[in-house]
Amino acid sequence: IVSSEKNRCIVLVGMPGSGKTTVGRDLAKRLGLRFVDTDHEIEARTGVKIPIIFEIEGEDGFRKRETQTLDDLTRESNMVLATGGGAVIRPENRALLRERAVVVFLSVPPPILWERTRHDRSRPLLQVSDPRGRLEELLKVRGPYYREVAHIIVEGGRGTPHAMVKLIEKEL
Ligand code: S3P
Repeated sequence: IVSSEKNRCIVLVGMPGSGKTTVGRDLAKRLGLRFVDTDHEIEARTGVKIPIIFEIEGEDGFRKRETQTLDDLTRESNMVLATGGGAVIRPENRALLRERAVVVFLSVPPPILWERTRHDRSRPLLQVSDPRGRLEELLKVRGPYYREVAHIIVEGGRGTPHAMVKLIEKEL
């Protein structure tokens, strides 16, 4: 469906807990590409963890850094890039991802997202009194954006991350 050059930059999008990091590492290994994670890159550039960035600069400050980092990273190729769950919120991000990469949406049902994130304290947006409700709200808002930006959609959650990797490989 897409040119072979674009095939060398594969971007994974999806909610927190959808398996972007696990699937991304596995996929990169199988395709002989490097694996890059946007949030890790932001932490490396700033020298602080994501929750600290949210605390000091707010979500808006984080989103600015995220856009800059996505723009820089997707200029290069030969990689699988895992994005943060909110990377699709800004239209300029969606435009540049769709243009420069093969975008894969990992679509995972809310109960499974919740199981995977409920004990996690590293995601500032889920540090609220009703994190489960928040997760569902975020998905409601973002669902259409994930589908809009994606070239490939894989439904997952019940199967293993490896099963998702196989599905992606088939679609590439
Ligand atoms: C966010 C998800 C996080 C991280 C930040 C914001 C979001 O990444 O980018 O905390 O808006 O959903 P993960 O999707 O890897 O949790």
